[in-house]
Amino acid sequence: MSHLQAENLYNIRGLVAVITGGGSGLGRTMALTLATNGAAKVFILGRREDALNETVAQFQATNPSTKDTGAETNIIIPIVTDVTSQASLEAAYAAISAQTTHVDLLLVNSGILGPPAKIVDNPDGSKPSIAEVKDYLWSIPMEDFTRVFEVNTTGAYYTAIAFLPLLDAANKRRVAPQKNVLSSPLAQIVITSSIAGYSRRVPFDFAYNLSKASVNHLVKVLSTSLTDYNIRVNGIAPGLYYSEMSAGPNFEEGNTGVSDGSFPTSMIPMTRAGGEEDIAGLVLWIAGPSGGYINGNILVTDGGRLSVLQSSY
Ligand SMILES: NC(=O)c1ccc[n+]([C@@H]2O[C@H](COP(=O)([O-])OP(=O)(O)OC[C@H]3O[C@@H](n4cnc5c(N)ncnc54)[C@H](OP(=O)(O)O)[C@@H]3O)[C@@H](O)[C@H]2O)c1
Repeated sequence: MSHLQAENLYNIRGLVAVITGGGSGLGRTMALTLATNGAAKVFILGRREDALNETVAQFQATNPSTKDTGAETNIIIPIVTDVTSQASLEAAYAAISAQTTHVDLLLVNSGILGPPAKIVDNPDGSKPSIAEVKDYLWSIPMEDFTRVFEVNTTGAYYTAIAFLPLLDAANKRRVAPQKNVLSSPLAQIVITSSIAGYSRRVPFDFAYNLSKASVNHLVKVLSTSLTDYNIRVNGIAPGLYYSEMSAGPNFEEGNTGVSDGSFPTSMIPMTRAGGEEDIAGLVLWIAGPSGGYINGNILVTDGGRLSVLQSSY
């Protein structure tokens, strides 16, 4: 087989991964992608056990052969975890350490939207008064605002820190460099950010935007801080993907919006939401040998939405 064949470029056979938020949305797609393509173990973390178990069930339903062989049925392993609790992260680390010697890839993906702090123009097109702006923004309790940071920023940071020794152990398993042979990918943390972390012009959606801007900086600071330890840190900044979080105002009932023409170009230039294949392909690439040279990067996957975001509202 040529080293340039897709089978080699995206070869993740034997990979051990941990994914927070693996019980729904993008995290579930990431888990199913890795497990379907040969990962040895995919630990999925989140607070809802039933949601995590549903990811396992979906994998088993779409991979009937795993049911027959028995040995492979437990590729996706649910671990109930709250990323806002150090004790819970420690317990997850202990449970995972008991089942693997190392972690090649940590996908820090849990997140919440938080208070919807958008202020819209009046029906006659006039702007709300400054008193109305203040009253509305002030009406959001400070703890609701802070909670967004607890999950999206603080939770992401502590998740990354919690798993450093297992990531380091993955690096220690790499074979010694051989002249003119591409070395295997270094252990990696990938944090799910958002295009909201770049946009300054989504009006009054402060908590989520600021938390994701912090996540972007977390990717940069962590990647620099961990260079001496050979642990890579990258980010993914999605635009609009159908999920529990984004359903509602953005999507009609029963429509995931992945076909062309689902959204106006003023909102998403490619006129569609991101699909499972879009996130799956990105994860497979960044996890495999062909993504091995990526470090300190944040990959935007948004159908061009970031470039027009200010005109969407
Ligand atoms: N969908 C989009 O359009 C979009 C766009 C940009 C960025 N994102 C980002 O993508 C990531 C995944 O979101 P999604 O769209 O897939 O939405 P989602 O389906 O709502 O997933 C969010 C996940 O985070 C987990 N979570 C929330 N609080 C947690 C906590 N305290 N501890 C552990 N896990 C927690 C949830 O699991 P439990 O409730 O079971 O804990 C859930 O599985 C988020 O970081 C989000 O900000 C999404």
